[in-house]
Amino acid sequence: MSSHLELKRVNKSFGGIQAVRDMSFSIPKGEIAGLIGPNGAGKTTIFNLITGVYDVTSGDIEYEGRNINRLKTYQVVALGVARTFQNLRLFAASSVLENVMTAAQYHHKYSFFEAVSHLGRWSKTERIIRDESMELLHRVGLADRADQSAGTLPYGLQRRLEIARALSLKPDLLLLDEPAAGMNAEEVATLNDLIVKIHEDFKLTILLIEHHMDMIMQICHRVVCMNFGAMIASGSPEDIQDHPEVLKAYLGEEE
Ligand SMILES: Nc1ncnc2c1ncn2[C@@H]1O[C@H](COP(=O)(O)OP(=O)(O)OP(=O)(O)O)[C@@H](O)[C@H]1O
Ligand SMILES: [Mg+2]
Repeated sequence: MSSHLELKRVNKSFGGIQAVRDMSFSIPKGEIAGLIGPNGAGKTTIFNLITGVYDVTSGDIEYEGRNINRLKTYQVVALGVARTFQNLRLFAASSVLENVMTAAQYHHKYSFFEAVSHLGRWSKTERIIRDESMELLHRVGLADRADQSAGTLPYGLQRRLEIARALSLKPDLLLLDEPAAGMNAEEVATLNDLIVKIHEDFKLTILLIEHHMDMIMQICHRVVCMNFGAMIASGSPEDIQDHPEVLKAYLGEEE
């Protein structure tokens, strides 16, 4: 199986803090990979490096065999990478549907004139975007909330809305940063099913950051564990579960 995403000896320093140290791993196309580690381990920084929010200090990031070190975020998105954020980035005052439509517009080109005049291709495009966005809301179970303002949704549903927004970018690689944070056991179980379903239906490769180990164990094909910026173990969920370094890293951590 060819590698969809590969990190080769990636380092990232912020002044004196080395947030990522010599990280190397690859994700085969179509797999669900987990990225775990205690708070401050460097997980979100990895997402920010992949998506061009930060430049690597050294090392290489390859997407489908192509080096993407220097690409800007919009260029990485154009290659087929979408993400959700640990700290939600929804437009709280806009409706649930508008939140998805705003992201979806990225994929539909129309001229500025058509946009301002609401003529021709634009209105047709808007209809398509609206239909596609509603379809995504159906998938994540938010269709009946389409007109509600996003900020008034319960937290767990806001996380699902973030997933719909990311999917509207039509990604091949989906990066999920703690999608189950703040959810109760029942909500986590439903989210599990949703991720498995979208993985299958959209033929996605997924990189999942999570502290809910049961979720990692159930849906990931492979897992990378990091601590203090460096990889301490990688392998199947079973390998990781009993790995002495992983147990040590999590010791004393509240889950
Ligand atoms: N922009 C930045 N400037 C300075 N330090 C940063 C920056 N971004 C991250 N860091 C530092 O890098 C380290 C890793 O942070 P990161 O957010 O990647 O951790 P994490 O594994 O996602 O943690 P959590 O589980 O709490 O979300 C931390 O020490 C953090 O303070
Ligand atoms: Mg984080």
